[in-house]
Amino acid sequence: MKEWYEKIKEAQSVETLEEIRISVFGKKGVLAAEFAKMKSAPNEEKSKIAKELNAHKSSLMNEFTARKITIQTMELQEAMKKESIDVSLFSTSSQAGALHPVMETMDKIVEYFSSMNFTVKTGGMIEDDFNNFEALNLPKYHPARDMQDTFYFKDEMLLRTHTSPVQIRTMMSTKPPIRMIAPGAVFRRDYDLTHTPMFHQIEGLLVDKKGKVSFANLKYILEDFLKYMFGDIEVRFRPSFFPFTEPSAEVDISCVFCEGSGCRVCSKTGWLEVLGCGIVDPNVFEAVNYKDVSGYAFGLGVERFAMLIHKIGDLRSLFEGDIKLLEQFQ
Ligand code: DAH
Repeated sequence: MKEWYEKIKEAQSVETLEEIRISVFGKKGVLAAEFAKMKSAPNEEKSKIAKELNAHKSSLMNEFTARKITIQTMELQEAMKKESIDVSLFSTSSQAGALHPVMETMDKIVEYFSSMNFTVKTGGMIEDDFNNFEALNLPKYHPARDMQDTFYFKDEMLLRTHTSPVQIRTMMSTKPPIRMIAPGAVFRRDYDLTHTPMFHQIEGLLVDKKGKVSFANLKYILEDFLKYMFGDIEVRFRPSFFPFTEPSAEVDISCVFCEGSGCRVCSKTGWLEVLGCGIVDPNVFEAVNYKDVSGYAFGLGVERFAMLIHKIGDLRSLFEGDIKLLEQFQ
């Protein structure tokens, strides 16, 4: 009998233990055999043998149950070890790309004006003098051309300095009424903290019958648009000058960095200039042969919007392709 105690203790799996159980407690097992042998023992010894065998039976059963619990616990722990996931491991999945902050901002602006029924128009990046300057009431030698020094090709062709020529091209090819925006890249001979030789603008133009478009309409839509872009901010209109609009205004929002209390970014004024606008100058309508119409126009720099929305300090960093910067916008 002794050996079975050893065997139970040494069993390493539930299967081996089950084999032992059958060998010990089964119908043809050792205990059954011992009880059978007892029958042929002398009568006076039978009760002693029976007692011993019953004692073995119950203590073997106890050993068996205890060992079974131990093995099951061991097996469970082993399985948990194997199946566990190391959450500290680096993911090997490939990285998803994301829109550049300038494109994302452009999309958001386009989304707003599309919802207001403006259609999107695009022109070419290479323009002629007529569309980029002349028709926009910027005659040759006009001092305002200085603000938009650009890169010239032969034959009076140039890299467009603003998206305003798309106004002209649209009016030349369609009849009023017009509600359009023109997003796209523009070029100037400029390079510093707030200027890059290439940047993006969005131009807006609305034309309808004479007397149907007012400065109030323009003010309403731009205020609504700026609140859509920047959230809870103040908006103010300042008189300004653009050759293609009269009257003209520049639009400021309360500084998104200091909320209007005055800081380095807003030069302690509490205001940030974000776009130019005005009522379309009659000279522009004349250049495109539009009669008895009125309209408003506006133009804005997309990089400037992106910088203010994401609080980026240096415009040039948007064009350096610095992954560390771009990753923050995923
Ligand atoms: N074209 C101007 C620029 O590049 C921006 C602009 C200002 C466009 C006023 C407009 C406007 O249509 O009305 O600086």
